[in-house]
Amino acid sequence: MAHSSLQTIRDEHKTLAAMLHALGQLMERGPGDTPERYFDVMRATLFYIDEFPERLHHPKESQLLFPQLLQLAPQAQPVLARLEQEHADCEHRIRELQHLLLAWELLGESRRQAFEGAARLYLERYLQHMQTEEREVLPLAEQVLTAPDWAALDAAFARNCDPLSGKYPRDPLYDRLFTRIVRGTAA
Ligand SMILES: [Fe+2]
Ligand SMILES: [Fe+2]
Repeated sequence: MAHSSLQTIRDEHKTLAAMLHALGQLMERGPGDTPERYFDVMRATLFYIDEFPERLHHPKESQLLFPQLLQLAPQAQPVLARLEQEHADCEHRIRELQHLLLAWELLGESRRQAFEGAARLYLERYLQHMQTEEREVLPLAEQVLTAPDWAALDAAFARNCDPLSGKYPRDPLYDRLFTRIVRGTAA
């Protein structure tokens, strides 16, 4: 049976993967002869990757799903602790990337490699993080949570969401930014 809480996590992973993919594409393309536009879209992409998981995604995992899972499957403690640590590190890693991007933009080509190396590492780590959640954590939750546990978890996710529809309202601010980035990347 599909659980709305896990579906929300999977949907948010798809959005994040699309942003990470946009970041990879931008790096492959490089600034070319429109550096202003390039750095604009790159900044918007990093802002989204900083803001969206931090405010919308990680709290659902760290505050709702992981604690519940830890109670029912204590053997998952090592993997949950690692994922939790990655959530905690995420913020300073993306701030570092934003700084490295600014250094490239303001100081020029000599700082490009440092940004690109760090951005590739970030991208790889974040994709791995989501993969671990989808391959290990979500299937384990499907195994060990009982029907009442799911009811409670889905309800907790829904309380975090729109109280009327039970669905997470798509924030138009993020939607607009998402569209702008995708258009900018495609241009
Ligand atoms: Fe996570
Ligand atoms: Fe996640």
